[in-house]
Amino acid sequence: MKKIFLPLVLFILTGCYYDSEEALFGKPGAGCNTDITNFSTEIKPILQSNCLTCHSNSAAPSSGGGVKLQDYADVKTYVDNGKLIGTIEHSSGYSPMPKGGGKLSDCNILIMNTWISKGALNN
Ligand code: HEC
Repeated sequence: MKKIFLPLVLFILTGCYYDSEEALFGKPGAGCNTDITNFSTEIKPILQSNCLTCHSNSAAPSSGGGVKLQDYADVKTYVDNGKLIGTIEHSSGYSPMPKGGGKLSDCNILIMNTWISKGALNN
């Protein structure tokens, strides 16, 4: 029993190591598609899933500190003042968002940054 157990454990451990580290998370941004970063198809769904419970037009006054992130014009305001990126990247001096939840995935943050660097268009 002991003789097979150790190699088996090593096999499982190294197997997992290579699967997860190399194949899935080998390079930052690997496997993250930033070719298309449109507001309607990429940005809105990220906000919808992670932010609008507190920052929709109806929830913002009670749960989101009055910050609305539902409509493009409102989102653009927080792009332009740097607070959208500051909060999701948990930069110092910004209130970390989503509040009380886990940080957005690196891929979602990269998609947001790419959209902003392309001019944060209402596309
Ligand atoms: C559980 C509720 C909740 C969620 C979810 C949430 N927020 Fe907030 N957010 C708040 C509250 C409350 C405030 C106002 C108080 C504060 O700044 O902490 C706020 C403030 C902000 C501000 C303004 C910060 C400032 O300095 O003026 C931004 C920008 C923001 N949130 C972005 C986001 C984004 C982007 C997401 C999703 C990734 C998100 N929030 C998710 C509750 C939430």
